[in-house]
Amino acid sequence: MDPNRPAGFATRAIHLGYDPQDHEGALTPPLHLTSTFAFETAEAGAAIFAGERPGHFYSRISNPTLDLLERRCADLEGAEAGLALASGMGAISSVLWTFLAPGDEIVTDKTLYGCTFAFMRHGLAKFGITITHADMTDAAAVAQAMSDKTRIVYFETPANPNMRLVDIAAISAIARQRGVKVVVDNTYATPVLTRPIELGADIVVHSATKYMGGHGDLIGGIAVGRAEDMTQVRLFGMKDMTGAVMAPFNAMLVLRGLKTLKLRMERHCASAMEVAHMLEAHPAVSRVHYPGLESFPQHALAARQMPGFGGMIAFELEGGLAAGAAMMNRLRLIRRAVSLGDTESLIQHPASMTHSTYTPEERAAHHIAEGLIRLSVGLEEVEDILADLEQALPSRLSAAA
Ligand SMILES: Cc1ncc(COP(=O)(O)O)c(C=O)c1O
Repeated sequence: MDPNRPAGFATRAIHLGYDPQDHEGALTPPLHLTSTFAFETAEAGAAIFAGERPGHFYSRISNPTLDLLERRCADLEGAEAGLALASGMGAISSVLWTFLAPGDEIVTDKTLYGCTFAFMRHGLAKFGITITHADMTDAAAVAQAMSDKTRIVYFETPANPNMRLVDIAAISAIARQRGVKVVVDNTYATPVLTRPIELGADIVVHSATKYMGGHGDLIGGIAVGRAEDMTQVRLFGMKDMTGAVMAPFNAMLVLRGLKTLKLRMERHCASAMEVAHMLEAHPAVSRVHYPGLESFPQHALAARQMPGFGGMIAFELEGGLAAGAAMMNRLRLIRRAVSLGDTESLIQHPASMTHSTYTPEERAAHHIAEGLIRLSVGLEEVEDILADLEQALPSRLSAAA
């Protein structure tokens, strides 16, 4: 890359940190399938262990294939350093175990991915950490919820599954005033659509299983942030607390996914916009939650914070869950499956699947409707996605009757 001209996002996603001439001309980076690394001498090994000289010693701590992925992810998110972990939950738990201790409080949004909610409410809480849910769509509510015990403010934007957005700059400014770290789950938006660090957040986590990998063939996680914070997560949260390091083979798959991330996100956004418009105009659909629609309550924030609105849509049918399940069963192309961000369009029912970790009362209190359907718009021809939904939705005539 020309050092005098900053390269754009997609160029960095393809080339950053790798020169084929350092690897016998191999165009794509080598896969380092090794658990350990041999030292030249006992003294050299001791120096690497002590952090006195650079080098790898064991792949639970670092590995050259992961190192390249970590540097690319950090760069694409505008962060100093990154970490590749075994799963999104591995990233979230390794980060939170690093910075929280008994007696501390985490202030988090009302809506969270089901296992993140369970990790906090049933995991962290068991070890003396207070979990306080605040309505993060309201900056004043977040300020009010914080106490002198608050160490972390945590949220997703857009949130899984109901697409609520959080104003990253506003919430980060409040947290920063009080010396509290802001951790953002950027899985839905990806760095193509939102870069929370540039808006004031401290740490970004991802389920790389989703858009970053992009092909539904791996489980992985990413965390990025300040170099000092990432070193702490690497040497404590990941190394000692969770052991949740990414496998080198998966790092190679995520590196491959990143090369087309921007291209894929552009297509996901364009297709989801068309699907959202179709659903909104359909008489069988009672509500569509998509940040790109003018009817979306936080559309103005979406337009300010995101250059595109992503590939995820949530919607509800007239007739609630029964109508939604019947519609899901009529689909022929769109797969009934959890996960998201894949080339295949995927549909699922949060209350009985990804968000069954909440009780019905908790879902009601956390803005997750029982009949909500979550659709991950894939990369098939949009006409085929639209046609599949059209044939599966109650007919326009019967819905209008
Ligand atoms: C927003 C969000 N964060 C985190 C996770 C957890 O990621 P993983 O399944 O890779 O552990 C998921 C998984 O669905 C998710 O949707």
